[in-house]
Amino acid sequence: MNEQTRHLPLIEVRELTVRLCSGHVVVDRVSFEINRGECLSLVGESGCGKTLCALSLLKAVPREVGQISAASIRLEGRELTVLSDKKMRPVRGGCISMIFQDPTAAVNPLFTVGSQIVETIRAHMRVSRKEAAERARSALVDAGLTETRRIFGSYPHQLSVGQCQRATIALALATEPLLLIADEPTTALDVTVQRQILDLLKRLRSKRRMALLLITHNLSVVAQLADRVLIMYAGHIVESAPAGKIFTAAAHPYTRALLDCLPSVEIRREEPHTIPGSVPQPGGWPSGCRFLPRCEFTEPGCENEQFLAPVEQDSSHTARCRLAGILFGKAHTGQGV
Ligand SMILES: Nc1ncnc2c1ncn2[C@@H]1O[C@H](COP(=O)(O)OP(=O)(O)O)[C@@H](O)[C@H]1O
Ligand SMILES: [Mg+2]
Repeated sequence: MNEQTRHLPLIEVRELTVRLCSGHVVVDRVSFEINRGECLSLVGESGCGKTLCALSLLKAVPREVGQISAASIRLEGRELTVLSDKKMRPVRGGCISMIFQDPTAAVNPLFTVGSQIVETIRAHMRVSRKEAAERARSALVDAGLTETRRIFGSYPHQLSVGQCQRATIALALATEPLLLIADEPTTALDVTVQRQILDLLKRLRSKRRMALLLITHNLSVVAQLADRVLIMYAGHIVESAPAGKIFTAAAHPYTRALLDCLPSVEIRREEPHTIPGSVPQPGGWPSGCRFLPRCEFTEPGCENEQFLAPVEQDSSHTARCRLAGILFGKAHTGQGV
């Protein structure tokens, strides 16, 4: 970081669109920024476009899946959209690292954990093999692993899923990234390990002062970690707000519906609550508001594209709903407005 980039967001995305090879748009003109050291959470049900949005920051959407276009994607002010694949290499896994839901997919089964971390470090940093091994061990310790000597020499299949997710976190941290993207990092883990991994991410963030883009379909994960939240539905960011406001003053009916799915102490439920209906398939989006078929607050006119512009409560809180003006500031009771 130098004087000129200090005041800029760490990453700034403008009008990002991902179009699948089928021609369908799945991420639709999305804009956001992440500040240094900040935890931004991207939330939405499965199929909303979260993973493709994250992969786009690394320009890592496979060609056979689709194509990205963006007015700009800037990392510390540097435009990434114009960079060649070769010039993107130090960014991927260097400045920006990513961990996934399935930790076993992120590691190579044929190499030991230690050798994979050492190779990653040597691909991104000019250090001797000995120093890389030291850094790898310290990343394993930072990822909360004990018996690091054994784990260093283990193959992925010799680890538990929880250990394996910690090892992928060590792998992601070893290059000292400015931004860690965690895509549903706890979804595949049982509840106890989930809590441990979230605690770990929380600790690492303050220790390493790195930014975190935390992707999840679960708002209770957000409550534990996020500074700011983007709610995504069918390719759009439908609400953007500081985390506190998402829980106390959510303005988009989709955000409110997600909040209704959280387990509540007052309302005992037999089954976990889900939003009725499902996320529309790419190509099957309704005109106007995409949440309209599932929304409990509809009014004539919601099917009209012209009412889709984000409504601003203040500079930190916007919602893409024509009723947002009414819903802003109305406390969410968990049972409608
Ligand atoms: N490899 C792929 N091939 C075809 N369609 C895909 C592929 N990956 C994602 N999609 C489609 O793009 C949309 C967004 O996917 P994704 O970004 O994975 O959503 P999320 O992470 O929110 O679950 C989904 O409708 C999904 O079916
Ligand atoms: Mg995903």
